[in-house]
Amino acid sequence: MIIENQEQVTEAVLSELRRADDPRFVEIMSAAVRHLHAFVREVRLTEPEFQKACAVIARLGQKTSETHNEVVLACGSLGVSNLVCLLNNVGAGQTETTANMLGPFWRMDAPPSENGASIVRSPTPGTPLFVDARVKDTRGRAVPGAEVDVWHSSTEGFYENQDPGQADMNLRGKFTADAEGRVHFRTIKPAGYPIPVDGPVGDLVRAQYRHNMRPAHLHFMITKPGYKTHISQVYVNDDPNLETDVQFGVTRALIGDYVRHVDEPAPAPDVEGDWYSLDFTFTIQPGEARLPRPPITGKAEGARPDLEILERG
Ligand SMILES: [Fe+2]
Repeated sequence: MIIENQEQVTEAVLSELRRADDPRFVEIMSAAVRHLHAFVREVRLTEPEFQKACAVIARLGQKTSETHNEVVLACGSLGVSNLVCLLNNVGAGQTETTANMLGPFWRMDAPPSENGASIVRSPTPGTPLFVDARVKDTRGRAVPGAEVDVWHSSTEGFYENQDPGQADMNLRGKFTADAEGRVHFRTIKPAGYPIPVDGPVGDLVRAQYRHNMRPAHLHFMITKPGYKTHISQVYVNDDPNLETDVQFGVTRALIGDYVRHVDEPAPAPDVEGDWYSLDFTFTIQPGEARLPRPPITGKAEGARPDLEILERG
């Protein structure tokens, strides 16, 4: 159609979208266009602002590589990742769930590991942590045979894929729940880490005088045929940044009770000094066991990157 005024631009785009075959595509894209046009009208977007927005979106893609995903990082920093998670899990966001967002650092094919094994695969500083995780269904019954994929950053603030100094798949492992729906393993207590701020996400965070820290957490992904894949993060209860997570991920149900043990024998004889334990139960729902698209696929080479830490102002 020949456009006669600004309202007709929206009508023209929506009309053409209805030509598509896939009804869900039409629904999603029509809503996106309606909201996007309404946003442009509401803020009266100027031409320089529009050009800047296009440059930011292009930069998100340019910053994304096989070892870093700036798009996923941006979705987290705008709260979209956790919103999608909450709307798609128990009670559509109105009740507590042990589901949480995937984040940008999951790698497929973590090494299968025996219950009780350590996921520390190269020398990594940190206090020993013994994790006991249980998988239950919505009726509280154990889910034996569930696969529990675990990953977390080093206490120096790097996932192994970011850090050529760590062994491949360090602090990653995949366990199988026993007859009681339980997995247990050894690692080190995770520390909070700064998200990379050398791209558009950094500009966004700096503009708000926010810090760029994620509170310390372990990542989990639980899969079993017949159940919806359960993606989670369990946050460390003594972390100072639980209320100001740069990725807006922390809910009360996900704050784990990481218990410090002083002068107590540890579950492994080589442990000297303090150690921590974590017991946590995940509740998984019936559904489809579909794996997410991995946000990264490889490990960085060369020098370890600099990590910049921003203060909250
Ligand atoms: Fe993480």
